[in-house]
Amino acid sequence: MTSKHLMNTYGDRALTLTRGEGPWLWDSDGKRYLDALSGIAVCGLGHCHPAVTRALGEQASTLVHCSNLYNIPAQQQLAARLSDISGMERVFFCNSGAEANEAAIKVARLYGHGKGIDTPTIIVMEQSFHGRTMATLTATGNRKVQAGFEPLLRGFVRAPFNDLEALETIARNNSSVVAVLVEPIQGEGGVRVPAEDYLQKVRALCDRQGWLMMLDEVQTGAGRTGTFFHYQQHNLLPDVVTIAKGLGNGVPIGACLTRGTAANVMQPGNHGSTFGGNPLACAAGLATVDTLLSEQLMERAAELGGRLQRALTEGLGDCPHVVEIRGRGLMMGIELTVPSAPVVARALEEGLIVNSTAERVIRLLPPLILSDEQADELVATLVPLIRAAA
Ligand SMILES: Cc1ncc(COP(=O)(O)O)c(C=O)c1O
Repeated sequence: MTSKHLMNTYGDRALTLTRGEGPWLWDSDGKRYLDALSGIAVCGLGHCHPAVTRALGEQASTLVHCSNLYNIPAQQQLAARLSDISGMERVFFCNSGAEANEAAIKVARLYGHGKGIDTPTIIVMEQSFHGRTMATLTATGNRKVQAGFEPLLRGFVRAPFNDLEALETIARNNSSVVAVLVEPIQGEGGVRVPAEDYLQKVRALCDRQGWLMMLDEVQTGAGRTGTFFHYQQHNLLPDVVTIAKGLGNGVPIGACLTRGTAANVMQPGNHGSTFGGNPLACAAGLATVDTLLSEQLMERAAELGGRLQRALTEGLGDCPHVVEIRGRGLMMGIELTVPSAPVVARALEEGLIVNSTAERVIRLLPPLILSDEQADELVATLVPLIRAAA
C-alpha cells in the first residue's frame, strides 16, 4: 500500500519487493520474479552480488564517510580505474545521474565563459532524458517532465535526435553554443538508436566548432550495451561523459568524466558534493567495475543481447502490432502500435519484471549475469503476452 507520508511523486505502488539474488526478486508474499529491468539499469551484476556485498561490509566496518575535505583512497582508485577504462582524464563523483549531468552542464558553462561567451548554450535533443533537477529537466526533451516547473533555465537549444543537419543549422546561426549533450542511445525516450555514423559526425562537428561533445551514458554506461561506455563502439572520445545507474550496482553513485580542456575548467570552490565519492559508494563502485571486467560481463552483454534479439525477432517478427525490436547489448526496446503498460502488468502477474517507456515501448534492461536459460525463460514468458496485446 502507498504511504500517506510519502510525497506523491510515484503514484500507486502495488508491489513490495523484499529480497533479491542474482536475476531473481521476491515479493512480500514470497512470489518469485525474473528481473529483466535491474532497478532501471542499476543492478547489472544482479541483486546482492557477493563481490559488492563483501566490499560494502568491509568498508562499512572501516569508514563509511569522511567528507571531501580529506583524501579518499577508494575515490582515487575508482577515478584511476574509470580513466584507464575510458580514455578520459579527470572524474567528479556525485550521487545520481542528474547530478552527473549537472556537473557536465557546469563544465560546459565554465568552458564557454572561458572563451568569452556571455550566455554559453548547450544543444540538447528532442525526446532526451537527463534528470529531474532544474538544469537537467530543462535539458530533457519531454514536456511532461518540465510542465509546472517553469521558468526553465536559459542556455539550452533543442535539436531533433539523430539529425546532423539540424546541428549544422544551429552552428551557422548561434555563436553562443559551447557544447552538445546527447545520449548515445536514448533510454527513456524509447530505446532509440541513432544512425551508425551519427556520433562520429557529432564528434567531427564539435571539433570543427570548438564545442564540447558531452555524452550522457547514465543508462548506457557500466557495460550495458556491450562495452563499458557505449561510445567505445564508435571509435571516438567525448570531451565529457556522465555515468551513474550501473556504477554501484545499487549503491547511489554518479560520475562526470572529462578530458582535454574540459578536464581543467573546474577549480577548487567551483563545485562539490557532501556525499559524492564517499568511501562506501566508491567501495561499491570499485567492486562493481572490477567484477564487470573480471567476469567479462560486457562481452556477455553483447552476446546475450544478440541471443535475445534473435529469439524475440523469431517470436514476434510476424506480429502486426510490433513495430520494431531494437537496442544494443542488454538495452532493448520492443516498440508496439498499442500501449505497452498492459503487457508490463500482465508480465508481472506471470512473474516477469519489464518496463514500459515512451508509452508504446517495452524496455528490457536485464542484469548482465543472466544465464542463457533465464534469457530463454524471459522470451518464453514475454512473447505470448506481446502477441496477445493487440
Ligand atoms: C540517460 C539518463 N540520464 C540521466 C538520468 C537521471 O538519473 P537519476 O535518476 O540517477 O538522477 C537518467 C535516468 O533515467 C537517464 O536515463
